[in-house]
Amino acid sequence: MTDTQVGIVGAGPAGLLLGHLLARLGIDSVVLEARSREYVEQRVRAGVLEQGTVDVLTETGVADRLQREGMVHHGIELRFGGAGHRVPLSDLAAGRAITVYGQQEVVKDLIAARLDAGLPLEFEAGATEVDAEVGIVRHEGGELRCEVIAGCDGFHGVSRAAVPAQVFERVYPFAWLGILAHAAPSSEELIYTHHERGFALHSMRSPSVTRNYLQVPPDEDIEDWPDERIWAELQTRMALADGSFSLNEGEIFEKGIAPMRSFVAEPMRHGRLFLAGDAAHIVPATGAKGLNLAVADVRVLARGLGAYFDHGDERGLDGYSERCLRRVWRVQHFSWWMTQMLHRLTGDPFEAKLQRSQLEYVVRSEAAARTLAENYVGLELEDA
Ligand code: FAD
Ligand code: PHB
Repeated sequence: MTDTQVGIVGAGPAGLLLGHLLARLGIDSVVLEARSREYVEQRVRAGVLEQGTVDVLTETGVADRLQREGMVHHGIELRFGGAGHRVPLSDLAAGRAITVYGQQEVVKDLIAARLDAGLPLEFEAGATEVDAEVGIVRHEGGELRCEVIAGCDGFHGVSRAAVPAQVFERVYPFAWLGILAHAAPSSEELIYTHHERGFALHSMRSPSVTRNYLQVPPDEDIEDWPDERIWAELQTRMALADGSFSLNEGEIFEKGIAPMRSFVAEPMRHGRLFLAGDAAHIVPATGAKGLNLAVADVRVLARGLGAYFDHGDERGLDGYSERCLRRVWRVQHFSWWMTQMLHRLTGDPFEAKLQRSQLEYVVRSEAAARTLAENYVGLELEDA
């Protein structure tokens, strides 16, 4: 006797979208989330959605607000040596684009859809242990018996410990200090800046809110970064040699430091437990891929579970880990490549010369720019 077909641990993008896709297939699920609804809806993280991510949200009816408020971008700027260079993503990648829409907005939309449909989603019900053999999730309020468990509880969750996995990892010697500010974007597109003082990124959330990031040492204390210092550093790193760029400033209403890490746990399945999203892998944010990778995982998982519960076909589930990992490693490479190209690394002048040569090649060679573009907008699910 089980309580549900699929027990989903974690109400981040991976867990919530999985629950949504399963409901559409007539498969029941229970979502258990450690934090409160307010907390998960306010947690500021990623902002770039690949075309494939937008498509799945649109096709499954949870993109009304995304369609209204999301900002579609057809290019990005790479800025270095005091000059900007546009990479025309859509021209280079078969018309595909990215959409800027905050991760917590996606989370809000998925929570509303689930609660409106009367489907089970329990907040402040953190899992304490997952039994992958029997299919039990032990949590703060009791235990949940499931035919299948989806471990969508992020990097610091409990699910991964139940999978005897090999871990591949790289921790970078820097972190990102990120801010949200009430300031109009200073550019129509994102600006990725390589500067001798370190990387900087100009992004946005709406016509009146900007999101900016600065590379900082990994152990940096946020207290050492009063607002004036943040703006001064952003202005210095993002300046154009001809003086024609000035970043719009405004009230900073959110500030945080996030570490940069590459991490993969292989395989992504053990017994009845399937890991998805950050529970299985982390990418450095330079490629804007973490959320999109979580979405790609649960699309594969939902399809496998659909065939399994519909007619007992286990092939999709058996191939889940291998299939996901092909994409995971492509995205790992791209995220690492963007990271090592754009950040200040060790300060070694030889390394800096190579970085500069690589950046110049990317903006000069159509082949190199296309490589960036097709990875950035996201490879088709079938390709990787
Ligand atoms: P999560 O979003 O982490 O969701 C996991 C959920 O599980 C959370 O709600 C958590 O509260 C819950 N949970 C944890 N433990 C338990 C438990 N024991 N029981 C029940 N629930 C549990 N990516 C980018 O592309 N750009 C960015 O700028 C960016 N910034 C980031 C900043 C931070 C601080 C972090 C941590 C990540 C960032 N990412 C960024 C990555 C991106 O946000 C993630 O890849 C994405 O959130 C993955 O979704 P997920 O659902 O797999 O995991
Ligand atoms: C963001 O807007 O938060 C963002 C954009 C691009 C990235 C990472 C984060 O590469």
